[in-house]
Amino acid sequence: MKFSKEQLTAVTVHTVFEGDQSGDLQQLHNRKLFSGKPNTTYAMLNVSGEGTIYYGLGKEDEINPYLTTTYFHHLGKYLEKMNLPNVHLTIPSKIQEDSEMKAKVFEGLYQAEYKYNEFKKSKKEAFELTVSVERPDDMEASFITVEHVVKGAFVARDFVNQPSNQLYPETYAAQIVDLFKDTNVSVEVYDEKQIEELGMEAFLTVAKGSNRAPRLIVMKYMPLDQEEHITIVGKGMTYDSGGYAIKSTAGMVNMKSDMAGSAAVVGALYALEKVGVQQNVVGVIAAAENMIDGKAMKNGDIIGSMKGTTIEVNNTDAEGRLTLADAIYYAATELKSTEIVDLATLTGAAIAALGPNTTAMISNNDDLADAVLDASEKGCEPTHRLPAFPSHYKMIKGQFGELNNAPKGGGGAITAGIFLEHFAEGLPWVHLDIAGPSFGGKPFDYLPAGASGTGVKTLYRWIAAK
Ligand code: BES
Ligand code: MN
Ligand code: ZN
Repeated sequence: MKFSKEQLTAVTVHTVFEGDQSGDLQQLHNRKLFSGKPNTTYAMLNVSGEGTIYYGLGKEDEINPYLTTTYFHHLGKYLEKMNLPNVHLTIPSKIQEDSEMKAKVFEGLYQAEYKYNEFKKSKKEAFELTVSVERPDDMEASFITVEHVVKGAFVARDFVNQPSNQLYPETYAAQIVDLFKDTNVSVEVYDEKQIEELGMEAFLTVAKGSNRAPRLIVMKYMPLDQEEHITIVGKGMTYDSGGYAIKSTAGMVNMKSDMAGSAAVVGALYALEKVGVQQNVVGVIAAAENMIDGKAMKNGDIIGSMKGTTIEVNNTDAEGRLTLADAIYYAATELKSTEIVDLATLTGAAIAALGPNTTAMISNNDDLADAVLDASEKGCEPTHRLPAFPSHYKMIKGQFGELNNAPKGGGGAITAGIFLEHFAEGLPWVHLDIAGPSFGGKPFDYLPAGASGTGVKTLYRWIAAK
């Protein structure tokens, strides 16, 4: 998407609220042709595609950042269908004068351009919008930020959409190295032997069930002259078959997306670096595949961890928390982390609790939780914090090992979260379970089918607002 300070086109799209009676609108309204209902259009174009389009934004008192993103996303899709890549936009002052909502105009339009075409022989042509607006000086700065942040979400989507026969720990690490070459993000990749030297026994136990060797990927963006940094950790299962607790075909078919948490970490670092946000941030990914093999962990095994805590593996399909236990402990002890936020496609229970479009949060720190919740709202990534009570902490205790990776009895998104908390060593920590919103079967609001890149906008906004 491009932003033009000058109007280059004879196509004007007036985006208007319901009940706006200015200009032609009164006539159109009286003739019942257009009343401004959400996502409705009235086009008055000549054969060259020049003229005026009205686009409805619904009721003025109902508009908010999320709806602005969604409606402008649909407008972008409409312009693609109409083959109108160059448009001049007018935007109601309520949106243009609101610092959050005006950015959403671009966030919505730009996200309409996303396609994942890599494996299609007849690739759909890329549709790239060029947009000018009234009072462009008002809008230019928010466009520049949005451009990088949305691109960060696209980076995450592209990683998640890659199938697991193409994206596995080794190729994932190589692609991340490639993405950040010639940038201010440095990437360290640790192979199996180095992971063993670090003592990451839980991570390695999961990884050894696959022929594809694991990688620990550490990305450092350190613009400030100090050692301390925020750490963002992402679940990086490039495939989750369930292991010996094997999933059904239907439950497995989208499990290439089990690295979506880590892709959000990569996408956020991409955006932070491109914008040049002045915060030290380190990303950590323990990348592995959860597979079946003679060397794979089995249901009932008791394993160790980098922290030394013993874990009963009562379900090999609860593998994410095993890899994250070591990744979070590494962040808490080997790095100079001040705060840790992890993102993970961790539990089906998060979907059961909150539905498919909402992220579940668990945290040990109210201030950090509130800051991330605020960022998720501004990032249009709905997130809800779940509680953790003493009864939940009892549930994760093991019978023969110290912790149980798969407690029974419900509350699975909570027990998975506080399992991770055990490895954060008391640092302020937030866990985001993105099992639902990370990957969708069909387009939803402003998101496409497949990978959503969820988490990128929340992380970016949280860190940029510090
Ligand atoms: N990767 C899955 C969680 C998941 C499920 C993500 C559906 C996206 C969509 C995770 O590794 C898993 O299998 N969790 C188990 C945990 C259980 C065995 C305690 C689950 O949710 O069933
Ligand atoms: Mn699993
Ligand atoms: Zn998993």
